[in-house]
Amino acid sequence: MDHTDPELAQSSAGVSAYRLLSPGLSAVGLRTHQARYDNLGEPAFPRPAEEFIVASRFAPWEREAQLSGADYFGDVMATALSVIDHESVPDADRVELPPPLSVSIALDEAIVRRRSVRRYTGDPVSLAEIGTLLRFAAGVTGEADAELMRGGGATFRFRAVPSGGGLYPVEVHLAALDVPELDVGTYRYSPVEDVLVRTGDRAVVDRLRDSFAIPGEIISIDSAAAVVLLIARPWRSMRKYGPRGMRFVLHECGGIAQNVHLTATGFGLGTTDCSSYVDDHANEALGLDGVLSFLAHTIFVGWPG
Ligand SMILES: Cc1cc2nc3c(=O)[nH]c(=O)nc-3n(C[C@H](O)[C@H](O)[C@H](O)COP(=O)(O)O)c2cc1C
Repeated sequence: MDHTDPELAQSSAGVSAYRLLSPGLSAVGLRTHQARYDNLGEPAFPRPAEEFIVASRFAPWEREAQLSGADYFGDVMATALSVIDHESVPDADRVELPPPLSVSIALDEAIVRRRSVRRYTGDPVSLAEIGTLLRFAAGVTGEADAELMRGGGATFRFRAVPSGGGLYPVEVHLAALDVPELDVGTYRYSPVEDVLVRTGDRAVVDRLRDSFAIPGEIISIDSAAAVVLLIARPWRSMRKYGPRGMRFVLHECGGIAQNVHLTATGFGLGTTDCSSYVDDHANEALGLDGVLSFLAHTIFVGWPG
């Protein structure tokens, strides 16, 4: 089926409008989101988003919620959280970052000046600038020692953006398109090691680029220097919080993205959120299964053009 065929789109809208008048009809038809909304009370219509809202309600009296959360208050999970994202990165995949740059803009000015920028000059963005964006998105900014009940202690590391339960279900990755110090490819920012870890080559970037379903006239991906990729691992939060943990994942993507935007604004860089990618294609390109790990959000970065 050609999804871009305007006639088909029009006829589906017609079908939707018809179904609005007679929602109980189980004819084969396409439904607009508006038609679904207007028919939410109709039991035959699936309503996955509403079901998610209901399924992710907090009900502290539920025994399963209590038990799942209680697990996190003992020594075992405290120790696990103190080593979360500790890793040993093979030298071959490791890219050291230059020292972070200081962003000399008043916070109030950055908030007011931030705008989505969708056109770029095509000039490269340095690794120092990119590294600073990534550190302010996910870098470790502080630590605290805690005593364990069985004796001894654990050190917790905190990051630039808050995370429900300190579980950090959102990884920050980068597709480097034009960053002079980096080969074109994909990289993961390792918060604890404070380095980039090579994850994919130019072919991965090409496949990822193809997964964006947005015309170049709207966002000029070809002149962007990098794309920040937020990759979610929802069970990190859902193991403790159940479906509500999925809310946290989306919430945390927003916090990370805003730090990227504000830092970029401070450098005079242009950024835009972009959720117009074909999930299956993007996840396949990045080697993600699309459920236990998936591309949750992207942010284009470049010099405003
Ligand atoms: C979650 C999210 C997804 C977005 N996806 C896109 C997108 O796919 N394409 C696009 O051009 N802009 C996208 N945007 C940018 C919005 O269109 C933009 O934030 C909005 O028009 C307000 O403009 P401003 O950011 O300049 O204040 C997205 C923004 C958010 C928060």
